Amino acid sequence: MAGKRSCGPFVWKEEYSVNLDLIDNHHKKFIDILNNLHSVISHKPSREDISDIFFSLVYYAENHLVNEEIYLKESEYSSFNQHKEKHNSFVGRIIKFQKDFKEGKQDVCEDLYDFLKDWLKNHILKDDREAISSLKEDHNK
Ligand SMILES: [Fe+2]
Repeated sequence: MAGKRSCGPFVWKEEYSVNLDLIDNHHKKFIDILNNLHSVISHKPSREDISDIFFSLVYYAENHLVNEEIYLKESEYSSFNQHKEKHNSFVGRIIKFQKDFKEGKQDVCEDLYDFLKDWLKNHILKDDREAISSLKEDHNK
């Protein structure tokens, strides 16, 4: 059986687009981080390599998630609170992974990779797309 991480690297596809550069560019950035992590864990990572990944993730969370929230709030997205709750939970998990890493817990990278893959599939390619398309429907009414 192939290893569970054999499915990388992920490649951005036009069908992922929500037709908003602000959001698409950040989603592309997220895929870069995911691929960086994949590449790092394939080659005996140093602690510095992993620290860099956490730095990118915290930056992603502070910039992208907040910008997206501002956009959804200003657009009066009806499920804004639930969406923000998912972002908060994502940030909470990243902080927990970072803490585990600092404390020397084994397998943090593998678990983090699985968690980020899940976020790509269930949030970026699902929740975010649903949010943006529901706004477009509202605006066309
Ligand atoms: Fe989101």
